[in-house]
Amino acid sequence: MTNQKPAVWYEHLHTEKHTGARRGRIHTPHGVFETPMFMPVGTQGAVKGVDARTLKEIGSQFILSNTYHLWVRPGDELIAEAGGLHKYMGWDQAILTDSGGFQVFSLSDARKLKEEGVTFQNHVNGDRMFLSPEVAMRIQNNLGSDVMMQLDEAIPYFEPYDYVKESMQRSLRWADRAQQYHKKTDSQALFGIVQGAGFRALRTESAQELVKMDLPGYAVGGLSVGESKTEMNRVLDFTMPLLPEDKPRYLMGVAAPDSLIDSVMRGIDMFDCVLPTRIGRKGTLMTRHGRVVIRNSKYKNDFTPIDADLSYYSDNAIRTNQFGNLAQYDIPGYNPFQTLTRSYLHHLFNAHELLGAQIASAHNLRFLLQFMEDMRRAIENDELLEFREQVMEEYGYNKP
Ligand code: GUN
Repeated sequence: MTNQKPAVWYEHLHTEKHTGARRGRIHTPHGVFETPMFMPVGTQGAVKGVDARTLKEIGSQFILSNTYHLWVRPGDELIAEAGGLHKYMGWDQAILTDSGGFQVFSLSDARKLKEEGVTFQNHVNGDRMFLSPEVAMRIQNNLGSDVMMQLDEAIPYFEPYDYVKESMQRSLRWADRAQQYHKKTDSQALFGIVQGAGFRALRTESAQELVKMDLPGYAVGGLSVGESKTEMNRVLDFTMPLLPEDKPRYLMGVAAPDSLIDSVMRGIDMFDCVLPTRIGRKGTLMTRHGRVVIRNSKYKNDFTPIDADLSYYSDNAIRTNQFGNLAQYDIPGYNPFQTLTRSYLHHLFNAHELLGAQIASAHNLRFLLQFMEDMRRAIENDELLEFREQVMEEYGYNKP
């Protein structure tokens, strides 16, 4: 065994005194990023409606993209020819790519699942394609993402025990095959995905077997797919203690503010979700005081700022604290969320102007990124429970 660090590794900074929440950093070939973090989703190599410059200005660190979509269009080999995904999309910070497991099972038709892999018709032109653990790795190698996810089978939460067991064990064998295939360990890290739905014995087997493989990071999958928040917390309660403390832990597909806090309290470091951009481009803002449906006629003459609580440049990140100066985007200037009014944004949506979708998408991402900055500070100050109480109150989660 050498002491050489993997391509992506976790540096622990602080454990919150009352909850055990983690404050750390993830080191990658494209920079060092603060955790807990939220990763904006750029499914097709684009965060919908938000360009790379804006993403940086609002404080994005990692972004997520998708193996399945980029394979179908424009093709992973074309992206390799262009110099990899970072260069192709003009993003010089970290990228995590999901393996296609979730997308094949949610988007494609005529699926046939075998031990070897999954055959399906893609959702763009109906061509038959075959995705296996090795193919998913080859595609992600071509994309050059910092973190690659193993191919897994994402199944509905309430499948019967026997099927969940069979599927979880197949995903374990797929993780093993992905690891066997993976050669570029110095520039890309392979994360495993814990499955097992709501069954403690199955989650335990999945976590323990993946941990034996000594992968550089672990995700918890198969959650936020229709089960209750109590149920998700219950799964995290028994799963998280099984994962190594010195590696990143990622909860896939979660963005609800209360769930972000509850999961961080259980030891999660990374999140992603399409929610902020999906609802943003349709005109719903995520704010500190709950959701704002900007198309609503009550905003027609509302000349207050789009969101008085939001900074634009991630100025929270530039405060100096006991961990040193975290400055990354120290550029004072214009803040569209404070300068522009709700009336103007209402008008943009009403008039079908693209700018409306762009501003609302960036707004929702900034909201979550600032939320994570606030949460990181609360962890540093051992005040996460107070932060949670404040959020629950302001959002109205505490109301009957
Ligand atoms: N995104 C959200 N949940 C999942 C999951 O269980 N597996 C994968 N691969 N992606 C996800």
